[in-house]
Amino acid sequence: MFDTLTQCEPDAIIALMQVAKADTNPNKIDLGVGVYKTDDGATPIMRAVKQAEALYHHEEITKSYVSTSGNMEFRRLMTDLILGDNHPAGDRIATAQGVGGSGALRLCVEVIKAASPQATVWVSTPTWANHIPMLESVGLGLASYPYYNKETLSVDFDAMMDTVSTGARSGDVILLHGCCHNPSGADLTHEQWDTVTDLMADRGLVPFIDLAYAGLGHGLETDLYGLRKVVATLPNVLSGISCSKNFAVYKERVGMALILAETPEQADIVQSELGLVQRRLVSMPPDHGAALVARILGDRDLRQMWADELDEMQTRISDLRVTLSEALNVQGGEVIARAVREQNGMFSMLGLSKDQVRALRKKSIYMTDSARINIAGANLKTIPQFADAILEVL
Ligand SMILES: Cc1ncc(COP(=O)(O)O)c(C=O)c1O
Repeated sequence: MFDTLTQCEPDAIIALMQVAKADTNPNKIDLGVGVYKTDDGATPIMRAVKQAEALYHHEEITKSYVSTSGNMEFRRLMTDLILGDNHPAGDRIATAQGVGGSGALRLCVEVIKAASPQATVWVSTPTWANHIPMLESVGLGLASYPYYNKETLSVDFDAMMDTVSTGARSGDVILLHGCCHNPSGADLTHEQWDTVTDLMADRGLVPFIDLAYAGLGHGLETDLYGLRKVVATLPNVLSGISCSKNFAVYKERVGMALILAETPEQADIVQSELGLVQRRLVSMPPDHGAALVARILGDRDLRQMWADELDEMQTRISDLRVTLSEALNVQGGEVIARAVREQNGMFSMLGLSKDQVRALRKKSIYMTDSARINIAGANLKTIPQFADAILEVL
């Protein structure tokens, strides 16, 4: 039966992780994998998560199934967190817990396919490595819009608007990163969100927001601007939300699909579709991580503790950006220095060639072939070495 299969290409980031791990150079700098790290290279459990886990350990009384749409308290609290208390969408929202942000995105993609199989989904160039394979696997039509200019290392907003406004047809879906664009780190400004929202309203386009890093760019309120803007303005919105990074519960696989329908009646139907899709994919999502997130968001003290630690993580990333930017801001390094300073979240795409990336790898400095770095993998000690190596290959 398996004679027809051939060896799959290993996932590029996982392969890079393994090479970096095997490197015994004590001065290696691993900026490849997309997880938050502290100064000493650890990815710790957040304080609030640890406490919630201890409490939950005593409170949990059954391991029975929850439901196809997942933990209801988690979904309610997450919806309020993401859209804000007293959000205008009210009962036009349908939600389902996803197996991580990836599972949440997949639920949305399945609902798009069921509701609108003829829709084309427009993705940014570049985009997160899993978007295109996920969309292709359900057989949706795909198109791309230019997003990141590798010369200026910034968003090419005019090119993006031009392509979407001339190419997309009513009913098409525009996949946007809510904040901390992966891989580039270059985000839309609030004014650009307003402009692209107007365009989507004019043309009957449907935003599909991948929100994987809320809180890690400029803090929650600022990072949620885009999603809140489209929810307040447009009739239909889909969003796949991840808790992996901002609650640091990566392996627990916690996320949520949030879909805005035009009416409460439609939201009910979408809710039933989400349940059906989930049932076919995984039957029931895992509960543990979602229960912890619900425990944190539902408890004033734990919530504050979590928000404080999220702010600390965000501040560390911003400080590293400033330090790296200063170290690069010499003749020849100005463009990268500005980009590193202005971009958001853990990632920046440095615009280096594959040869330059390989040259850095020979010095035990690891980033993806696309020259994406995870800035959280650096620290104040390694930044001078990293900056010098970049300036050298430039
Ligand atoms: C842009 C983007 N979307 C979604 C995800 C999925 O996150 P999760 O690990 O929660 O599935 C990631 C993870 O790296 C990501 O970078």
